[in-house]
Amino acid sequence: MTLQNQHILIGITGGIAAYKICELIRMFKKSGADVKVIVTPNALNFVTKLTLQNLSQNDVYEGEFTPKNWKPEHISLADWADIMLIAPATANTIGKIVQGIADNLLTSVACAFSKKMIIAPAMNCNMWQNVAVQNNLNILEGRGVEILPPDNGFLACGYIGKGRLCSLEKICSAVDEALNYQQILKGKKVVITSGGTIEDIDPVRYISNYSSGKMGLSLAKTAYDMGAEVVLVTTKDVEAPYKVTKVKSALDMQNAVNNEYDGSDIIIMAAAVADYRVKNYSEQKMKKGGNENLTLELVKNPDILAELCKKRQAPLPNPLPQGARENKIIVGFCAESENLIENAKEKISKKGCDFLIANDISRKDIGFGSDNNEVTIFDKNGGINKLEKASKQVIARKILEYITNE
Ligand code: PMT
Repeated sequence: MTLQNQHILIGITGGIAAYKICELIRMFKKSGADVKVIVTPNALNFVTKLTLQNLSQNDVYEGEFTPKNWKPEHISLADWADIMLIAPATANTIGKIVQGIADNLLTSVACAFSKKMIIAPAMNCNMWQNVAVQNNLNILEGRGVEILPPDNGFLACGYIGKGRLCSLEKICSAVDEALNYQQILKGKKVVITSGGTIEDIDPVRYISNYSSGKMGLSLAKTAYDMGAEVVLVTTKDVEAPYKVTKVKSALDMQNAVNNEYDGSDIIIMAAAVADYRVKNYSEQKMKKGGNENLTLELVKNPDILAELCKKRQAPLPNPLPQGARENKIIVGFCAESENLIENAKEKISKKGCDFLIANDISRKDIGFGSDNNEVTIFDKNGGINKLEKASKQVIARKILEYITNE
């Protein structure tokens, strides 16, 4: 592990495992990191400021109203850090972070922090199993926070169960991996689409599909962890530390993606875009009348992906507009229920993208709505690479590593 010149901000909350963080600080220091420590008032019941100060070779931060420079402490610490680790994290602090409560220096920094955050909880096993605690952790995970679950074993409260802080080695390697991982797409802007578009028929009815947006969301989260500036254009409600543009129809989606086109390095179209929309939207709820049958006339939606690829082929303006990027990678997805390989090969050449990720949407255990996927990556030069069934998070990581050649 080498963490040379990396800025690690450790938040210690009021749990007995706080004493273990003294050793953790030494481990980070030995591997070259610059470490600063914030303590909650309760943490100081378990460790002293003097110990933490000696080990980190930095001031230890506790109060918000004694800043060491002109900037408010919670902002300067958030700006300084490359990563924030909260260990041990109590149920109380986890709950506050979820709610955006900023009532001490640690929770204020967490509220202001927009980079990678890792949380290592430690608490009594019954507290760990509490539904509110588990829900809070799920919410944080959904926002891109990495949770290092506690281990099983003897607990300081006398119980045996899940609740003791995970091993220091595990924390170190998670921090090391996150910091290295953050470099892969640093400086790159990645635009991702997700969810099924919604094509209104009248004020109460619409045409859509079963896309849950999970595949696109996993790609966005992973690209963010890899250090990219991420824009997620989605039909779903998403809370995230990166830019999210909520859209409804295919036309809205096209508009939003086009707005991001110039400045993007990678565009991934994981959304299930409706091929057609109704020709005449009815401003009023459509009435049954005496009709036994109803015919809706549909018109073709633009093919967003194909048009992006066409746009890329056009000569670039000289000089390039400010912030515009050359050499874009454009990736499509391909939802097939039969003849996956033949259809995907045809689609990649028709659309003109660099990669096409094909998945079989006739299977219930992958594709639409599932937490898992199994995909085959086709590249424009004829290369084919199958990714075996795994969680969408793992598939997202493998896709991003593959298309960026990592
Ligand atoms: O959202 P989940 O529940 O997690 O499910 C994930 C998924 C199955 C939706 C996803 O993995 C997927 O396959 N997305 C693409 C679905 C799709 O629209 O496939 P397609 O074969 O119809 O389209 C091919 C490509 O062209 C896609 O990148 C699509 O975004 C794009 N397209 C399609 C039509 C259109 N009018 N404009 C487009 O840009």
